[in-house]
Amino acid sequence: MNFISDNAYGVAPEILAAIQAANDGAVAPYGGDPVTARLQARFSELFAREVWVYPVASGTAANGLALAQLTPSYGAIFCHAESHIAVDECAAPEFFSGGAKLFTLGGDAAKLAPVDIEAALSRFRAPPHSPKPATISITQATEYGTVYSPAEIAAIGAIARREGMKLHMDGARFANALAHLNAAPADLTWRAGVDVLSFGATKNGALGAEAVIFFARDDAEDFEFRRKKAGHLVSKMRFISAQLEAYIEQGRWLTWAGRANTLAARMADGFSDVSGAEMAHPVQANALFVWLPDATIARLRKAGAKFYDWRPSTNGRTMARLVVSCMTPQDDVARFLAAARG
Ligand SMILES: Cc1ncc(COP(=O)(O)O)c(C=O)c1O
Repeated sequence: MNFISDNAYGVAPEILAAIQAANDGAVAPYGGDPVTARLQARFSELFAREVWVYPVASGTAANGLALAQLTPSYGAIFCHAESHIAVDECAAPEFFSGGAKLFTLGGDAAKLAPVDIEAALSRFRAPPHSPKPATISITQATEYGTVYSPAEIAAIGAIARREGMKLHMDGARFANALAHLNAAPADLTWRAGVDVLSFGATKNGALGAEAVIFFARDDAEDFEFRRKKAGHLVSKMRFISAQLEAYIEQGRWLTWAGRANTLAARMADGFSDVSGAEMAHPVQANALFVWLPDATIARLRKAGAKFYDWRPSTNGRTMARLVVSCMTPQDDVARFLAAARG
């Protein structure tokens, strides 16, 4: 019963098969191969417009490089205080951008709210003493397993456009957000004002494949230099590209994310008859944050369940984070709930 992370499980067989298939013969390295060449067309079709796709090996690299591309070294990046870029990337965005400042904001369930962005902007009215507001970054699905609606993104996108700022989306779990909303990829991104997307696949069945996706050629200018300088122009790129291609083929990514979301929703329902359980946030994607009595936490651990304590014990209860992956065995959800009920 492993609910530590959506990276805890392995790789989907279809992804391994695509890597195996890409292993045939010799091709040009550094992205000069046919699979990488096909990605531009595949992703352009997926997003219903021409896009510029740059595979990289990790989500941290995708975020750091995307943000650095949009943000000058003297710029400010507005993001949520709980965002991965603010708390879990070892200052990679600051490093890659050469010193841009992350400016963290509040907002329920890890979602930025326009009102807070407006308030923050009002504090940046003394140029050049304050950094230049350059970029807003949102996470979809969020670090708390919640999902922005297209209208919520568009409201943030409108502020970015009005202020001459850019909008970045950390889509490490983009598939889970799409599966939840049953929306078109375009509706959650460029149609709502997103300029660049960190497109994740690793958390949803890939071995290690992410991509930086730009929706305008100008925004991508010279990005290949930035990626190379950062060590993410992978020489055997075909194996990353093959994963991305197989991932989006036949709607696999959405089927897999849908499975993870469904199991997470089932788990959330199951907590309704676990004594003392209280959901901390709505469950919209594949992560659950739930307050549980400390005795329940101890019983679950004794039964072999693995998960993180997200908040330390307070008044006899602890907030647990449970992440369901597309490969989590269905039975584990039932076993976990049975152990929680005691
Ligand atoms: C929301 C979010 N963004 C980005 C990442 C970064 O991914 P990686 O661990 O591949 O650098 C993660 C990983 O946990 C994440 O949860």
